[in-house]
Amino acid sequence: MIEAIAPTDSIRRAYDYASSFYGRLIAPLERKPRLRGLALAAIQPSDIVLEVAVGPGATFLEIIKKVNRSNTVHAVDLSPKMVNATRRLIKAAGYSNFDLHVADARQLPFQDETFDVVYNSYMLDLTLLNDIPVVLGEFRRILKPGGRLILVNMSKPHDNSLTWFEQLYSRLPAGWVPYLFGGCRPVLMEIPLKAVGFCNIKREYLRHIMPSEIVLANKC
Ligand SMILES: C[S@@+](CC[C@H](N)C(=O)[O-])C[C@H]1O[C@@H](n2cnc3c(N)ncnc32)[C@H](O)[C@@H]1O
Repeated sequence: MIEAIAPTDSIRRAYDYASSFYGRLIAPLERKPRLRGLALAAIQPSDIVLEVAVGPGATFLEIIKKVNRSNTVHAVDLSPKMVNATRRLIKAAGYSNFDLHVADARQLPFQDETFDVVYNSYMLDLTLLNDIPVVLGEFRRILKPGGRLILVNMSKPHDNSLTWFEQLYSRLPAGWVPYLFGGCRPVLMEIPLKAVGFCNIKREYLRHIMPSEIVLANKC
């Protein structure tokens, strides 16, 4: 995997800026892999669910439809404007059983062993390599034993060689990357998940307009 170019502050600025159009223009292009991830999550009405990096809320709306109305569904994002966009979307759909916060995935504001399911799409593909184990460690900490983690990210079939996209990404001026590609580059999460102690790791690769992997794992 190549290094992500953009530091966290520029990611927050870029996604605050993108919050006005991401839900209409970008999220539909990633819909198929996101929904495949959601299907693999097999969310039950009584599950306690967290979405990390909720973005404009397209998946969160599908998650909230799956759980009991008496059950609070949780989500966080680094970008305050993305959190506001999600709040508007979910309220307009008539739901009030949600808890939305601005928070960083590297330091999640939740107690140990809180969630049955943690869902996270298109965030680790813009996370610095050194931060990936920190984030996965946080996911592991807040999941209940046996809890399910679903990761959806830009990816490639295997890690043998650099793709044309990775070569382009590495050559562009760092300041452009968060605005041109949202900061994303291909990642492969099976090995990092194993390293932080997840088990039953299953990967699907989707050759799609946004080439993506969908990875399901359990907290052992
Ligand atoms: C490419 S968008 C994906 C949004 C949504 N998950 C989706 O699939 O449509 C990436 C999102 O990750 C958020 N993000 C990036 N780094 C984050 C971090 N360290 N903690 C929380 N959110 C983060 C950004 O603010 C942005 O909303």
